[in-house]
Order: sequence, then C-alpha cells, then structure tokens
Amino acid sequence: MSIWRVKPVSAFEADMKKNDLKRVLTKWGLTSLGIGAIIGGGIFTLTGIAAHDYAGPALALSFVIAGIGCLFASLCYAEFTSVLPVEGSAYAYAYGTVGEIFAWFIGWNLILEYMMGATTVAVAWSGYFVKLLHLFGIDFPIWLCNDYATAVAKVAEHNAENPSNLIAEPSFAFNLPAFLITWVVTYILVKGIKEAAKTNNIIVIIKVAVVLFVIICGAFYIEPANWDPFIPTETTTLIDGVEKVSFGFGGVLTAATIVFFAYIGFDAVSTQAGEAINPKKDVPFAIVASLLICTVLYILVSLVLTGMVKYDQLDKAAPVASAFSENGITWAVFIITLAATAGLTSVMLVMMLGQTRIFLGMAKDGLLPNFFKTLHPIFKTPHKSTILVGLIISVTAALTPINKVSEMCSMGTLLAFAMVCVAVMILRVKKPELERPYKTPFVYVVGTLGVAFNLFLMYFVRPETWIAFIIWGTVGILVYFAYGKRKSNLNQIE
Ligand code: ALA
Repeated sequence: MSIWRVKPVSAFEADMKKNDLKRVLTKWGLTSLGIGAIIGGGIFTLTGIAAHDYAGPALALSFVIAGIGCLFASLCYAEFTSVLPVEGSAYAYAYGTVGEIFAWFIGWNLILEYMMGATTVAVAWSGYFVKLLHLFGIDFPIWLCNDYATAVAKVAEHNAENPSNLIAEPSFAFNLPAFLITWVVTYILVKGIKEAAKTNNIIVIIKVAVVLFVIICGAFYIEPANWDPFIPTETTTLIDGVEKVSFGFGGVLTAATIVFFAYIGFDAVSTQAGEAINPKKDVPFAIVASLLICTVLYILVSLVLTGMVKYDQLDKAAPVASAFSENGITWAVFIITLAATAGLTSVMLVMMLGQTRIFLGMAKDGLLPNFFKTLHPIFKTPHKSTILVGLIISVTAALTPINKVSEMCSMGTLLAFAMVCVAVMILRVKKPELERPYKTPFVYVVGTLGVAFNLFLMYFVRPETWIAFIIWGTVGILVYFAYGKRKSNLNQIE
C-alpha cells in the first residue's frame, strides 16, 4: 500500500470509455469556456486593492509577472490534457503519473482554488450588485453587504469623510448578497447545467465586449500624469504586529500574487474534456489560447484604469465601474456594472461546477466518501456535494474579507500549478513512449521555470495566509492517512 502507487492508464481509458456526455465542444467553444472562467473578480475587483494598496500604476507589471508564471503552467497543463483527456483536472493527471499522495495533495489544493475562488467571486459579485442597486436609488446598509472587518473599515471611512453624518460602528455584519448569489448558483447546479452552458456563451460575449469597451473608451480618459510615479516609493506599515510592505518592487510582487487570481480558470477547460469533440488537440489549444487572450486584455485594462484615476483614488469594491463614474461617464457605469454582475455569476458557476466534479473524481477513486459521488435520482447531478459546497462558500463569503479568501485561493492554485509542472516532467522520464498529441516545448526548461515562478510568487503572499495554508496542508495529509489511503480503490487492485 505505497503512497506513491499510480492509477494505471488503462483505468483512465476505461473511465473515458464510460463517458456518456455528448461531445459538442469545438476548439473555440472550449476557448470561450476558458475565457468565461478566467475573466471575473480578478480584473473587475481585485485590481482595486492591488493598485491602491500595493502596486500603484505598476499594476500592469504585476499582471505581466503573474501571467508569465501562468503561461509556463498552462503549457504543462496542455501536454497533460493531450495525454489524459479526462475530467478531474490536475488531480487526475497526478494520479496517473506521480502517485497517490501527490494527487491527493493536488486535489486538496484544488479545493482552495475552486472553493475559495468561488467565495472570492461571490464577494466581488456582491460589490457590483450593491453598486447596481445604488444606481436605482436602493442602498444596502453597510453591515448587510460586507463582512465585519470590511464593514468597520467602511464605517470609519464614511465617518472621516462625513463628520456631520456619522454612522455608528456595527456590532455584527453579514454579506447578504454574497450569501444569496451562492445559493442561486447552487440551485442551478443541482438542477443541471445544460441551460446554464448556453447562457454562459452569451455571458462570455457580453463580458469580453465590456472589457474591450473599457479599454477603448477608457483610453480617451487617460491622464498620463496618473502614471507618475509608475512604481511608487516603498512604504512599510505595521498592522496588528505584522509588517505590510506597499509599493516599491516588493509591492509589485505582492500585487502579482493578488492579481494572479485573475488568471485562474484556464485550467477549468480541462474539466470539460469529456464534452470536447477532439479533446487531445483542442483542450490544449483552448487552455493556452484563453490564457493568452486574457493576458493581453488584462494588461491593457490595468494601464487604462490606473491612467484614468490616480491609484490611491481607485475604489476597492468596484474599481472598473468607479473609474468611469469618477470621470463623469455615468452612462457607462450602468453597462459595466450589469455586465460585471452577470460575468461574475458565470465564473461562480464554472468554479463550483469544477469543485463538485473534482470531488466526484476523488470519490470515484475511493479517496473521498460516497457522499461526494451520490447522484440525484432525477437531475443526475452530485446534489449532496453541491449543497455542501454551496453551504461552505455562502457562509465563508458572508463573513470573510475578499483579500483573505482570494489569497488562500491563489496559494492553493500556485502550489497546484507548480506540482503540475513537476508532474509533466516526471511523466516524460517515466513514460516516454506515451502518445503526446501536444508536447510542451522545451519541457525541462518550461517546467522548471514554471515550478520556480509559482513557488517564487508563493513567497510573496502575506505571512498570515501562509499560516492558514500550512494548517490546511497539514489537515490534508492527516485526512489522507486517516481515510484516503485506507479506502483507495487501488487497494483492491494490489
Ligand atoms: N479568474 C477568475 C476571476 O478573476 C477566478 O474571477
């Protein structure tokens, strides 16, 4: 019962033969899915925190740095998907190559990626939804659309700006819109996603159109003075005994770890392999293409945003819409806010769907309890696990600040990406004979750089996130030995 045992390729092939999903997705259909999963809370919301608190106008540089790390990882992902076009993403690839404990640990980190990713997007959704209602004259009380820490900070900010109209500090806060949207998405996923997939394509078109609109229209409002200084001078503040470095090159790197979140999602294409017409060729193409398209869009959006508004004036909850309102383009605010609200919903759908499918894969392999693979008798969806995922996301989103959850998500993803880069190199050595319709170019260089880049970015994540991450990892290993290792299906093969 070695912890390094691997799932035989023949077992994957058997799984693939059992696939009863319709193969309808073309190369561009898959690319559109990728873009739908990528563009979301990262660009629409986190750009505010990243530029305001850490990078200033050098936000574009942070996007370049994070994009390079992702590009290496995506090239490695692409080779894997061409060898094993199965659902289950990086978890499945690692199980077929490196070994069970490695696969388990990737799966455990993918929980952070998908679950904390959806949580982040739920909070981002709330920010835009509240803004949308505000346009119609409806205002949520601060305590009902924020977590406690954010609510207290917002009340303090309001009181400093409006000494004649003070608000009392809340004793309790709950992000109700974030909580409710999670349950709406959970409901859709329990009922099945066929309809949602059609709507998703429309949302992707709207989302990309709005991003292009922001770039083209916003370009006319750029004030080059706002880019000066491009990298503001480094400052250090002590918050709760922890040193926070802002700006300077260190700040640009911390911002890179924050906006790294914006790229997450290209790997979600790999969870759709079962529905691709020609998965071995088209999934690798879609992974790399969707990432490259979004990288270009992101760099342009960040230049436009920091050019339109001085970085220290950027709004942290809905920065893109606010940049337009601050320039007096109020009609655009409505369009952007509406598109962002719809666009964020589609990212949540893909993230939560990805999470339940990864759980399903792990449960089918025996590494998680049957609870995660029980299908609804009528809808044929893993309803129990979907509801559990919805419960965790909704409560976390209602009570936690967005940067805390997004950083946990980025941490898990960075490690998972690094592990994929390692795994693809191991597979080249262990099984050189496998057919590889797509080969990572210069695999040992790209793979090594991928590992180095992703681990390097992890180093710049804040210390408190590291502590939470280490606890999460330790629990993961304990659960593996207490449950996964003992119950694995591979026990029956040996
Ligand atoms: N990349 C996705 C987003 O920014 C997760 O929302």
